[in-house]
Amino acid sequence: MRAAALSLGVVAGLVGLVLLYTPQQAQRGRKLFTESCAVCHGPAGDGGRVPQRFGALAGRRVPPVVGPNALASFQTASDLFRYAQQRMPLDDPGSLTDEQYLAVTAWLLEQAAVEANGEPLTPESAAQVPIR
Ligand code: HEC
Repeated sequence: MRAAALSLGVVAGLVGLVLLYTPQQAQRGRKLFTESCAVCHGPAGDGGRVPQRFGALAGRRVPPVVGPNALASFQTASDLFRYAQQRMPLDDPGSLTDEQYLAVTAWLLEQAAVEANGEPLTPESAAQVPIR
């Protein structure tokens, strides 16, 4: 118990030192998520099934990206950013700019209760930001 509390404190301490994201990035990310991701992931990011209109992809299970069990397979914001950039939106991967993928990543960090510290999230700084 004490060791766990101690290591959480250490992680929080480290997070304080690195660049995280700006509230503006998260705000843009929220809008982008609504426009490009919510159709499958749901407006609140809680997942579901790919809708009929996506043809061959329809019915595929969509994992939650917000909530207690979300994003468990990602260690850092960089893993999440790269995955989104290479694989999402599932029907048109790579269709957003790097800036936009970073903004969506910032919004997902905010949803995962990682607090903004006012420094912009970049592909480099993202590697220093643990997701949980
Ligand atoms: C056409 C439907 C669709 C759209 C649009 C879509 N996704 Fe997905 N997403 C999926 C599916 C389905 C999966 C599960 C992996 C798979 O089947 O390839 C997934 C998986 C993910 C995962 C991995 C979650 C995990 O825990 O493994 C992330 C992160 C993600 N999507 C983010 C996004 C973001 C960000 C956008 C918008 C830029 C987006 N997705 C748009 C269908 C979609």
